[in-house]
Amino acid sequence: MKRAIVIGASSGIGREVAKLLVGEGWTVGVAARRIERLQDLGAFSIEQIDVTQEDAPERLRHLINNMGGMDLFFYASGIGKQNRELKENIELATLQTNGVGFTRMIGEAYRYFAEKGEGHIAAITSIAGTKGLGPAPSYSATKAMQNVYLQALEQQARQRHLRILFTDIRPGFVDTALLAGDFKYPMLLKPEQVAREIVYAIRHKKHIRVIDWKYRLLTAFWRRIPRCIWRRFKL
Ligand SMILES: NC(=O)c1ccc[n+]([C@@H]2O[C@H](COP(=O)([O-])OP(=O)(O)OC[C@H]3O[C@@H](n4cnc5c(N)ncnc54)[C@H](OP(=O)(O)O)[C@@H]3O)[C@@H](O)[C@H]2O)c1
Repeated sequence: MKRAIVIGASSGIGREVAKLLVGEGWTVGVAARRIERLQDLGAFSIEQIDVTQEDAPERLRHLINNMGGMDLFFYASGIGKQNRELKENIELATLQTNGVGFTRMIGEAYRYFAEKGEGHIAAITSIAGTKGLGPAPSYSATKAMQNVYLQALEQQARQRHLRILFTDIRPGFVDTALLAGDFKYPMLLKPEQVAREIVYAIRHKKHIRVIDWKYRLLTAFWRRIPRCIWRRFKL
């Protein structure tokens, strides 16, 4: 029986992944701030964790101990908002959650797996890290940071001969609370469909998975656009 911990399982994509893992027979531990939304997942253990708080790593260790260990660490916590007027509170909150919180939690999972000798870290980043996106500066910047951070840890783990696998999951627009608002997003994916692709990517030990195929084409195109043209792009 394999043991997985899902951080950010109270809503959206993380919630769907937790349900799939439970359905597949994994022993699952779940965490988020809104623990009332974690009760109906059929999880083995629940922990209240706010990744922006300094006690979050300690709470993760508590959850790991309750589970009797961890084989898969799945990280889904994140916030994101359009910020076309560059309001300071939105920019700084995004850095706190997606930058500091991400580093804090991925780091603790990495140190745990380094002690244990093996493990798998999978995290939802985004296609938003492919380029700087004018409507969401801190969101796209923190997602690019997450992409590079996972790449760096993957190299470090290899150099240290640690058997830690990494899966960087980069979905396009997904119909979750994160996108709620007036703006109508194109090419919306269903969280259930994204969760199925995520579990597939984890099972097949993919290093990077852009979801879905339409976004694989789109990001390949974006990457080829030179800076002098990208800055004229209307998003
Ligand atoms: N929706 C999209 O279009 C899309 C596309 C690409 C990537 N993503 C990424 O996918 C991930 C999941 O987002 P989603 O779309 O599923 O949105 P969501 O439904 O809003 O879920 C976000 C999850 O993050 C948790 N979270 C937020 N702040 C937290 C904190 N301080 N501490 C602990 N947990 C926290 C929330 O739990 P609590 O509020 O209960 O703490 C919730 O479980 C995010 O990293 C997002 O950037 C989303």
